[in-house]
Amino acid sequence: MQIALTVNGTFHQVDVHPGELLRTALRRLRYYSVKHGDETGESGADAVLLTWTPEQPTSYRLVNSGVMLAAQADGASIITVEGLGDKGTSAPISQSPNLPLHPLQEQFIRCGAIQCGYCTPAQLLAAKKLLDENPAPTEAQVREAIAGVLCRCTGYLKPVQAILRAAAQLRGEEPPPLDVAIVDAVEEGEWPTGDGDAGIDPGPDPSGVDTQTRTRTVPAKVAPPQTAVVNKPEPKVDAVKLAKGRPVFADDLEMPGMLYGGLLTSPHAHARIVRIDKSRALALPGVHAVLTYEDVPRVVYASGGQSYPNPPPYDQVSLDNKVRHVGDRVAVVAAETPELVQQALELIEVEYEPLPAVFDPEEAMREGAPVIHDEPDAVDIHDPQRNIAVHIHVEHGDVDRALAQAAHVYESEYRVHQVQQASIEPHVVWTWWDEDDRLVIRTSTQVPFHVRRMVAPLIGLPVRRIRVVKPRIGGGFGGKQEMLIEDLCAHLTLATGRPVRFEYTRAQEFTSARTRHPQILRFRSGVDERGKLVAMDVRVVGDTGAYGTHGLTVQMVTGFRALSTYWLPNARYDCDVVYTNKPVPGAFRGYGAPQALFALEQHMEEFAEAIGMDQVEFKRLNWIKVGQELPMAEAMGEGREGFAQTVRSSGLEECVQQGAQAIGWERRNDPAWRQDPTRPHIRRGLGLAICMHGTGIAGLDMGAASIKLNDDGSFNLLVGATDLGTGSDTVLAQIAAETLGVPLEQIIIYSSDTDFTPFDTGAYASSTTYISGGAVMKAAEEVARQIREHAARHFFDGMDPDRLRLEESQVKAPDGRAVSLAQVALHATHQADQHQIMATASHMSYLSPPPFAAQYAEVEVDTETGQVTVKKLVMAVDCGIAINPITATGQVEGGMVQALGYAVSEEMAYDPAGRVVNPRFGDYRIFAADETPELQAILVQTYEPSGPYGAKAIAEIPMDGVAPAVASAIHHAVGVRIRQIPFTPERVWRALRG
Ligand code: FES
Repeated sequence: MQIALTVNGTFHQVDVHPGELLRTALRRLRYYSVKHGDETGESGADAVLLTWTPEQPTSYRLVNSGVMLAAQADGASIITVEGLGDKGTSAPISQSPNLPLHPLQEQFIRCGAIQCGYCTPAQLLAAKKLLDENPAPTEAQVREAIAGVLCRCTGYLKPVQAILRAAAQLRGEEPPPLDVAIVDAVEEGEWPTGDGDAGIDPGPDPSGVDTQTRTRTVPAKVAPPQTAVVNKPEPKVDAVKLAKGRPVFADDLEMPGMLYGGLLTSPHAHARIVRIDKSRALALPGVHAVLTYEDVPRVVYASGGQSYPNPPPYDQVSLDNKVRHVGDRVAVVAAETPELVQQALELIEVEYEPLPAVFDPEEAMREGAPVIHDEPDAVDIHDPQRNIAVHIHVEHGDVDRALAQAAHVYESEYRVHQVQQASIEPHVVWTWWDEDDRLVIRTSTQVPFHVRRMVAPLIGLPVRRIRVVKPRIGGGFGGKQEMLIEDLCAHLTLATGRPVRFEYTRAQEFTSARTRHPQILRFRSGVDERGKLVAMDVRVVGDTGAYGTHGLTVQMVTGFRALSTYWLPNARYDCDVVYTNKPVPGAFRGYGAPQALFALEQHMEEFAEAIGMDQVEFKRLNWIKVGQELPMAEAMGEGREGFAQTVRSSGLEECVQQGAQAIGWERRNDPAWRQDPTRPHIRRGLGLAICMHGTGIAGLDMGAASIKLNDDGSFNLLVGATDLGTGSDTVLAQIAAETLGVPLEQIIIYSSDTDFTPFDTGAYASSTTYISGGAVMKAAEEVARQIREHAARHFFDGMDPDRLRLEESQVKAPDGRAVSLAQVALHATHQADQHQIMATASHMSYLSPPPFAAQYAEVEVDTETGQVTVKKLVMAVDCGIAINPITATGQVEGGMVQALGYAVSEEMAYDPAGRVVNPRFGDYRIFAADETPELQAILVQTYEPSGPYGAKAIAEIPMDGVAPAVASAIHHAVGVRIRQIPFTPERVWRALRG
């Protein structure tokens, strides 16, 4: 049928299918800012402004185009973000892509309100509607207006700030200045001067072998306030295109002859496939392929996006004749429309032989439990008969003797649950053959180079015939650190010869993607008479669901964090990683640390209480300090070789003090504050958790970068690192700009494409700023050296190049002479000593310097209902030098809200048959804008000598401390200790009643 739509002032007549959604129709018209977040409208990513009376500007309503039929919109006028950009009036707007920015877009960019940018178009439209109707909204009104558009990245603080500032701007007022809380933990005079070798120090070389990547140190220009670009709140380099809703995400394209892919998943938790009949599905006109285990090669693999060789076990194949959890893969289909895909999936007849299932990891290890991996070709499963995928045992010192001699011993057990990354952008991939018969995979991945290597054997192509392209990613949080659906989509292109688009539904994100490992953690510790820890013994049972991907390494990190945050002369870690018939855990921001820290911080508090010590003093006495070694780093590695680590920078004490001041810690002992007489059922409490994380994986993570000088003095920077919305492209460009003496806009960064950019392990383990940034700094230093040499020879009479410096896009001599980079570039390229000034460098580090943080929480507990309301979260973080304070605080704010979901509301819930009962945003409950507490991020700057410009990591540590801080605050408020998350009203209510 044909309908009429006026979009951003342009009239369209569109042929639509009767069941076609408005979102699909708009995207077919190439309004790609209208996003798919889910099928229920609960993400809000599909929102557009719509009216049938465009002459009345306030008649526009915010509607979910993903739950509205296109036919229902016949005759409507619609505004999408592509049409925002004049003064934002609701009058018809031209569709020119070069419109000036609307004040909302401008403020979103300036405030750092855009991280991945997937929710941004819908947030902007929601904000536009509010400001059209209410030019002077309150903060509460702003939060309510955007509450229907979920954001998984920002924690909403910066978007709200941006909307309020845009409102002021539209009213003709001056917006208030932007404020970022930065505290320098380093005393004046202690900052490195740049004269020495205070740049990237890769740490001691354990092999004794000098290599370029291991020993090269880069003279640092370093630290504030001398820098021009680093340590400055530069706007994100991709913010404008994200604010304008440009087609930058994996799914934002259309190809002639394309097919849609779809996945049939298992309804059983454990079953054998006895028979599959796909004939009726294949007979459907428009269906081009139906693939089952009978159609694809059986190649055993491990799906975790990790460095070669992938850690064991190898327990997956693309399609199997056995299913091991509800949501497991059964068959894939390619057809000409999404509706045909759905019909074909329903026509596949599968006969299952249901098998007994097990959902509890402790039960799964018992004699007689169902064996989940009985296939003979699985490789390196520790004990398949007992469902133990991996066993870890690491000991340092003599734990038993130390505990036997300890003055006090304390033991306690904790449980953490299963949660989902819930990126607003689902997993989506496109595959097609290019003109050279090479397979192109355009995918929303954190690990493009790992995907290329891992998918090759599964589809029977050599690596050289595969190109993986990573466009902008709509959030990853570890969930996209996996080779998850690329093999299935590639199989469909191989089978049909056609381009195929394959995307998970939101329900499949919960049942067929990845999640966080649930764990049972038992701690037993001993202290001497002064309260100094002498030993800690940690036993963990980790639930890895149906497959062992990331099972070894996540649980390794759990052990390492549990046994390294406080200094221990004796430590033991014993862990079983156990299969169950549940959807599969994998990498999730924090990577085993949030589990460890929830248990560890509670255990420390309980121990302090048991021996009558103040909890902060007990922690202060024991937390790891500058100069102390991390023995478990060497003993554990991350499932591979470990390297000795010593703490070389820490601002933890300053973090604790700054955070205490910001939260009002002194109120802890104020009875009047703790119990408001007007609300006798409400008790208030404050809690603190200490956090320590890592910065990349020592001796393993590697990043590379290429930089070349252009005729106009600008630079192309190519990196294999993957920006998931964290701002890493911006940070890497800042490092290059600082080193090359140019403003940020002179750096054109591109990431990442396996054909064009150099290798990078990918975006995980908090490694990008530190590892990839190290590579960028080395490449930039080499390019700077070449520029100085050429300039010295041809413009400065053979002067010593080392006397020249790059500054303000010029090469400057001490005597005041200067030549522009453009002149040097033109001269080098076209006139004399003709050559391309360029360099490529790699970086790896044997160090993983820990960032530290103090996480504070203020809560109210309703003693009648058990409801815990978190009123305020403060995190003071030592991330070394913040390369970009705005993106750094954005990471902290967003991470705290994600961690708050882990603590109080998010939980994958199951029925007795192993089906997830809440596989949608509405039931799963991530925080909305009108539900988040007050947030405060404080950057406590130290100088990490091994990091580029003194930087350490910041992306993951905000996940670590909220759950234990809230637990601590609940205990302070009502005196009960709850050793299991999430703190649901029922769990708290039951705890209150003993
Ligand atoms: Fe909102 Fe990523 S910026 S979902």
